[in-house]
Amino acid sequence: MHEPQEPPGGIHPLLAGRFSPSRFDPSAAVDDRTLGLLLEAARWAPSAGNSQPWSFFTGRPGEPEHQRLLPHLAPGSARWAVDAGLLLVTLTRRHVDDTELLYSEFADYDLGQAVAHLTFQAQALGLAVHQFRAFDLEGLTEELAPAPGWAIVSMAAVGRAVGGPPKARERHSVARLRSGPWPPSA
Ligand SMILES: Cc1cc2nc3c(=O)[nH]c(=O)nc-3n(C[C@H](O)[C@H](O)[C@H](O)COP(=O)(O)O)c2cc1C
Repeated sequence: MHEPQEPPGGIHPLLAGRFSPSRFDPSAAVDDRTLGLLLEAARWAPSAGNSQPWSFFTGRPGEPEHQRLLPHLAPGSARWAVDAGLLLVTLTRRHVDDTELLYSEFADYDLGQAVAHLTFQAQALGLAVHQFRAFDLEGLTEELAPAPGWAIVSMAAVGRAVGGPPKARERHSVARLRSGPWPPSA
């Protein structure tokens, strides 16, 4: 089902060269300008009805915000995330204030797209992004206390990668993308 492969030639080098590093260079700081550009990239992503249902909590080594995030990393992500020049928490606005009313049915979809834009801006700046769910969601939600209607979705480590991607990477085939989950027509 999964096919080990390298990204082929022909797709954009920023896409082909992207991977989620499991080592970051601890000496590579993310400066204010870079952080600003990453957030600009997210800001200009499309969203349903231009609802922009995203927010980012950021912390860089040495900042008090970084100290607030570290205790909530799971051991698996802490191994590499602590060395990244930037940690991000991604939040989405799912509901209108503290009601059950959906703010946008596409809130999580739109957040993912904004993170993708941020990821390729990072790549263009010579940085890499490793998104992750390996953190204590409950503890981090208590720590950051997002506004009503907002929910933490994921975290991401951003920094200069040490080493390259794993040799064999697995992806479904393009044919499978198109064959689809729908039943054959009669
Ligand atoms: C929403 C999301 C959650 C993820 N959670 C984790 C995680 O908890 N730990 C981890 O090591 N990688 C995590 N990843 C990274 C994926 O494992 C990785 O993107 C996938 O294996 C493909 O590898 P590549 O990004 O190097 O192409 C996550 C990625 C996404 C988008």
